[in-house]
Amino acid sequence: LWTPANIAEDAIARMREQVGNKKVLLALSGGVDSSVVAALLHKAIGDKLTCVFVDNGLLRLDEGDQVMSMFAENMGVNVIRVDAEDLFLGKLAGVADPEQKRKIIGNTFIDIFDEEAAKLTDVDFLAQGTIYPDVIESAASKTGKAHVIKSHHNVGGLPEDMQFELVEPLRELFKDEVRKLGVELGLPPHMVYRHPFPGPGLGVRILGEVKKDYADILRRADAIFIEELRASGWYDKTSQAFTVFLPVKSVGVVGDGRRYEYVVALRAVETIDFMTARWAHLPYELLEKVSGRIINEIEHISRVTYDVSSKPPATIEWE
Ligand code: XMP
Repeated sequence: LWTPANIAEDAIARMREQVGNKKVLLALSGGVDSSVVAALLHKAIGDKLTCVFVDNGLLRLDEGDQVMSMFAENMGVNVIRVDAEDLFLGKLAGVADPEQKRKIIGNTFIDIFDEEAAKLTDVDFLAQGTIYPDVIESAASKTGKAHVIKSHHNVGGLPEDMQFELVEPLRELFKDEVRKLGVELGLPPHMVYRHPFPGPGLGVRILGEVKKDYADILRRADAIFIEELRASGWYDKTSQAFTVFLPVKSVGVVGDGRRYEYVVALRAVETIDFMTARWAHLPYELLEKVSGRIINEIEHISRVTYDVSSKPPATIEWE
């Protein structure tokens, strides 16, 4: 019988059997899948689990602190936080091409994770939040069925020469099942039902070259958008919503003065499978409020636009 409680119990028993009293390493991103794996493994093996959380400087506002407070402080999970903003931004300096940015972010993550793994002794298992659609997608791409428009590196992102056996408790589950499991395990619903966030993070939401100033501005604007979506009840009616930083300047007025500052685009879509998507018909009043707040509260933004492109032909992300 499929109930979240049964699935959790079964997964925990199977992991205990697989792992025994050996140690397990998990790359915790703060996303739903890796968070549910962390919660499951923590229940199954307690402090035999070590998580590595890499802050790449491309996360949302306060995201790193939230991950640490939930897992390390509240739940008592062993989490090694690696603050790698400078390293990521250094490697991204001068790079404008989206695919190249994705590669740099993915490779830098792997290097850091490798380095952290090498510091730990006698770890035999590597846990991953692979879910059923990832398994299918990766099988399809291996047989050449998937046309690669953008490289996503959720599966097979880790080096093949790693001497670990994999623990993948979510391999047979769909996303909605993973979410129910997360709630069952006591993770807060607002995090379990959070919109998906791409691996390269704000790296693909800052068009062209990524800079710390841009990321800081974007984080604040995005937090306002998301806060207003939640307050108005629209967050759960959209599948994904976020803000995009456009590195162009536009003129505005403040009081008697003129200002010449950056532009952001708001993006919100409704979709079932993320393969096609319709732009969300957010109420004008909501857009007005978000735009007003962003321009008034963030001095480096002079203009807010709303993206009315559906997928196809546009993609959900701008890069
Ligand atoms: P697009 O932009 O291709 O996005 O319509 C479809 C979904 O995939 C997410 N996405 C990514 N996820 N790494 C990820 O882990 C990536 O490089 C990446 N690019 C896009 C996007 O956020 C959307 O949910």
